[in-house]
Amino acid sequence: MLSISDPAAMREHARDARRGGRRLGFVPTMGALHAGHLALVAEARARADAVVLSVFVNPLQFGPGEDFARYPRDLPRDSALARQSGVDVLWAPAPGAMYPEPPRVTVEPGPAGQRLEGAVRPGHFAGVLTVVAKLLHVVEPDVAIFGRKDFQQAALIRGMVRDLSFPVEIVVAPTVREKDGLALSSRNAYLDGGARASAAALPKALGRAVEAFRAGERGAAALGACARRVLEAERGVSVDYVACVGPDTVELLEAVDETSVLAVAARVGGTRLIDNVVLGAGLEEDVRVGG
Ligand code: PAJ
Repeated sequence: MLSISDPAAMREHARDARRGGRRLGFVPTMGALHAGHLALVAEARARADAVVLSVFVNPLQFGPGEDFARYPRDLPRDSALARQSGVDVLWAPAPGAMYPEPPRVTVEPGPAGQRLEGAVRPGHFAGVLTVVAKLLHVVEPDVAIFGRKDFQQAALIRGMVRDLSFPVEIVVAPTVREKDGLALSSRNAYLDGGARASAAALPKALGRAVEAFRAGERGAAALGACARRVLEAERGVSVDYVACVGPDTVELLEAVDETSVLAVAARVGGTRLIDNVVLGAGLEEDVRVGG
């Protein structure tokens, strides 16, 4: 595995690989790698000849008072995991190399970026889209893989690529979960024992809504209430939102169908967690790890 930090060196290496006829797969991350990230690498390997994984904690997508400073960073560990999972190039640019000065031009996410996470975290998605645009422009991959765990982010990235004609295929891979259903997240490292146990209420709430959907419920309010009851019954969990939305528009729905997404965000202890499920697919489509 090759390690690169300089964006110009990354661009040159990727161009050489493509000129050599190799199809490039790209997995952007903020590091603190876990099995969810590694599943995206496996997906990239299945769809490309060479895989680039980026590790960059993007200051632009963190609001004031969010966890930018304490976000977990461990490049040696990430590097070992990346190597083991068959990454060809680990690209970890320094903040100064990505943003020599604060950008004056950023990517505006549009209406789908104003709801859910966008409403709670103003500026977050402009920060995400801006860095993803920059990362894609340096690597110029044939295919880039994102996780359904952050379904609103994935929807906005698909929208950016379509609306701004980026020459890349976007693939969205299923959520990887612990045995009790908790979606893997770098932020799970913040959960202490009690909070870790309470966090299982998120997938439980999603599962309860899927059961109601399968029993024939199509009202968004009723399905939301069903999930909310599970969350509110759990000590130490406070709900940010529970919402049924369209998978692409992230528009709030009154009536749902198989493609609709039930999304939740909640604070568990001091940690904010998000999760979601496609109602017609359920949690069974997701991947389980751990013993
Ligand atoms: P990060 O949180 O590190 O996530 C990197 C990628 O891994 C994202 O596409 C995310 O959806 C995916 N992912 C996270 N947890 C997952 C899980 N349990 N199962 C499957 N995929 C999972 O998302 C970001 O970084 C950043 O916003 C980024 C896109 C890199 C831009 O800075």
